[in-house]
Amino acid sequence: MPTVVDRGLEGVIVGTTALSNVEGAIGRLTYRGYDIDDLAEKATFEEIIHLLLYGQLPNRAQLETLKRELGSRRALPEPLLGAMQNFPKTAWPMEVLRTVVSGLGLFSPVNAQGEHVSDVHTAIELIAKFPTIVAAWDRIRRGFDPLAPRADLSQAGNFLYMRTGKVPHSIEEDAFDTYLVLLADHSFNASTFAARVAASTRADIYASITAAIATLQGDLHGGAPTAVFRTLNEVKSPENAEPYVREILDKGKRIMGMGHREYKVRDPRARHLEAMAKELGDHVGGERWYATAHALEEASRKVLQERKPGNTIYANVEFYTAPVLGSLGIPADEFTCCFACGRVAGWTGHVLEQLADNRLIRPQATYEGPVAGPYVSLEQRPTNGARG
Ligand code: COA
Repeated sequence: MPTVVDRGLEGVIVGTTALSNVEGAIGRLTYRGYDIDDLAEKATFEEIIHLLLYGQLPNRAQLETLKRELGSRRALPEPLLGAMQNFPKTAWPMEVLRTVVSGLGLFSPVNAQGEHVSDVHTAIELIAKFPTIVAAWDRIRRGFDPLAPRADLSQAGNFLYMRTGKVPHSIEEDAFDTYLVLLADHSFNASTFAARVAASTRADIYASITAAIATLQGDLHGGAPTAVFRTLNEVKSPENAEPYVREILDKGKRIMGMGHREYKVRDPRARHLEAMAKELGDHVGGERWYATAHALEEASRKVLQERKPGNTIYANVEFYTAPVLGSLGIPADEFTCCFACGRVAGWTGHVLEQLADNRLIRPQATYEGPVAGPYVSLEQRPTNGARG
């Protein structure tokens, strides 16, 4: 019988992975041994997809082959696109992404045993189609026809193109590309773990990735940047940041985008996102989200330090995601979908890794309910009994 109950599985090692490593104490993140700082500055998202799925950075020919495959797999099955036109326009983008990804399984080929294939090509198909789903819903709910994906653009460039019909400026494409690189994998985070749990039952890759999307949704995980954006719009300008932080903490609430289960120093991805938020803000002009976000981070650090000396709450990856995606013109309720467009590279890599050396993931719980008693027949149960 287990004697230690660890409700959040903090510090509990439940498996091994060769995909990424989070060193929370020193704030280092690596994908297959490559430092995220190097990758964010030098690699494209396509290179990261290859690195995660095939285990190595691609040479030029391998990269071209991968780009061709991504380009050729972007379009959605017509019946699914048609079904999306009939979804209620109020449907939340994450609900749509979850539903359509689940629906992709209906149209995927089966092998001789009648099972969906879960291999590197279905992984690439899912990665290719995520942005198409998000961009198509963005247009459909605004009353526009979805645009056909373009095979000649990068994952990042094509996503931005499919939303607006305009090939994005290189500053915008590069920023979104780097965003996807930064979000691609993060060891056994909650959504990746959910994907691995599903895969461990031998559910196929469509089912496993649907579980991951469902788990990403909450604001303690992928939903945080939407909440950060709401905060930025409430704070409005840098001088309001400190009073806002004090008010939130006085109410016992949390500052969204701050704190992390693993990192005890600043999230290494935050630095890159902060630089991008500043550059993009200067490029597009308009709202001063970057300045407000920066002031909010400073104020949060100051006030949290004051109230809990020695605390380890710093900005996480979601914090500067909000001004980056906001500056790209992406609505706040699509931020979590953008996260998924990057993380699907890691999710699929983890599903394949799990399937390659599978063991059913099945933890235990300590039972706290009543001890066994005799069954009470329907006639003998009290009529005024309150529910327990
Ligand atoms: N604002 C204010 N206080 C915070 C905080 C935040 N964002 N994050 C953590 N804390 C405080 C908690 O209130 C708690 O204080 P206490 O010990 O006095 O009760 C302490 O720090 C530890 O918090 P806990 O919830 O146990 O840590 P965790 O490891 O479970 O939390 C998060 C990790 C991410 C869930 C948490 O930091 C959080 O809720 N952040 C905001 C949501 C967010 O940005 N999510 C995206 C994560 S990438």
